[in-house]
Amino acid sequence: MLHSALINVMVKAARRAGRSLKRDLGEVEHLQVSLKGPANFVTAADKRAEEMLYTDLSKARPGYGFIGEEGGSREGADKSHTWIVDPLDGTTNFLHGIPQFAISIGLQREGVIIAGLIYNPANDELYIAERGKGAFLNDQRIRVAGRRQMESSVVACGMPHIGRGDLELSRAEMTAIQAKVAGLRRFGAASLDMAFVAAGRLDGYWERNLQPWDMAAGQIIIREAGGVVSGIAGDDDCLKTGTVVCGNEYVHGELVKMLKPLGG
Ligand code: IPD
Ligand code: CA
Ligand code: CA
Repeated sequence: MLHSALINVMVKAARRAGRSLKRDLGEVEHLQVSLKGPANFVTAADKRAEEMLYTDLSKARPGYGFIGEEGGSREGADKSHTWIVDPLDGTTNFLHGIPQFAISIGLQREGVIIAGLIYNPANDELYIAERGKGAFLNDQRIRVAGRRQMESSVVACGMPHIGRGDLELSRAEMTAIQAKVAGLRRFGAASLDMAFVAAGRLDGYWERNLQPWDMAAGQIIIREAGGVVSGIAGDDDCLKTGTVVCGNEYVHGELVKMLKPLGG
């Protein structure tokens, strides 16, 4: 399938960093049995992947700014374009050898995300979208699911890590949603949760305490797949508030109705 030059740049960078992460995943599986465990090795793998992405993306598009989870913000001469990158989303899964993790790349122009890519090198699933051009999983067009009943919907969520976020609120949210849906899931990689919503595998997803690099690519991929994405307030920008709710129009609306009164 023919993609734009921009998407080709993003795909090439993600595949190279993805090969590196996949090799490192093999090593992680060996390190599990060692006393020291794979934690330091994973930190290095994460940083290595980000440097590869920075090198490739800034070579192809000199001057664009770059915000990465590991290396922070690097300014460029071109103030209107910024890459927003999570080189390894789903670190805890990766650390445990669970093949649910991804590279996430969003491109922002004048404050608006115009292209997104999410790539899981473990199963070679590649999600891409560009504004106005639709969303694709491995070159097949994807659409959000069409369900209009919460009781047949499968919804994913996040849970706060130790010492982060509001555990009680998270439990109250899960209790409320669990009572209404066919199934509740916690996969552990926000970008892939959003990609799964775009592909119609999940009917909805919500989470709090996220960062722009967790959601930048997912936001455009879901919108281009016909879905709705916002923060938990329902009409806010997830990239600004750090909370996310998504699904088709109906599921998004129902989730907001249930979640908003619990914690805004
Ligand atoms: C995390 C994952 C996880 C979500 C966390 C994120 P990381 O990203 O997306 O699913 O629950 O809040 O921070 O740390 O693995 O890049
Ligand atoms: Ca992340
Ligand atoms: Ca990360």
